[in-house]
Amino acid sequence: MRNRFANSLMCAQRTLSRLYTKSVETSSDSSLSSPKTVKPRRIVLTGFMGSGKSTLGPLLAARLGWSFIDVDDVIEAEAGTTIADIFARHGEATFRERERATIARLAAGDSLVLALGGGAIEHQATRTLLLTASGTLLVHLEVELATTLERCRGTEQLRPILADHANLESRYLRRLPLYRMAHISIPVDALTPEQAVEQILSSVCLDCGQMNPS
Ligand code: S3P
Repeated sequence: MRNRFANSLMCAQRTLSRLYTKSVETSSDSSLSSPKTVKPRRIVLTGFMGSGKSTLGPLLAARLGWSFIDVDDVIEAEAGTTIADIFARHGEATFRERERATIARLAAGDSLVLALGGGAIEHQATRTLLLTASGTLLVHLEVELATTLERCRGTEQLRPILADHANLESRYLRRLPLYRMAHISIPVDALTPEQAVEQILSSVCLDCGQMNPS
């Protein structure tokens, strides 16, 4: 049986080779990020519940001297209620439309770290926006489902998708290839938030020219 360290090393190697392939694949398309050679103006964090988006987002923003915004917090503040309540009263489709519109608005900000909710990646328009907008770097914090279950234990009342036990694994599997379309994918199961921030910073070129100087 492989241990966790070996697992995460293998994932890191997979990530590096994917990164290399991506920079080759996208070299003719200046609208797509090439993390090592262009400087992002905003970093968007995606990943399944419990991957650490809201925890390490503020740490990353502080290191960069940027602002941090959590999309779920904005949705709750603007709706004047909790996400669980929006799901219960209006259903998931209503939440997803609010989520899409909120991300489209916020993702235009500069010097910004933006944390998405775990399901935002499922919306095609959101994916296209975050993968193609100049200056946007989409970072996937990859967790195993077991990590989600361990880290999010007891938060079912706050997270309706976590409470939907029957569909949790299929959602996870459905989303995984979508998350992995991100410009960078980092396996974070065995990392502290601080270590994950270091990995993100080391994958991004902060001294390079802007992706889109105008
Ligand atoms: C969701 C994840 C939650 C929140 C909502 C739906 C999902 O965010 O947006 O409950 O579909 O996975 P976190 O990933 O921050 O828990």
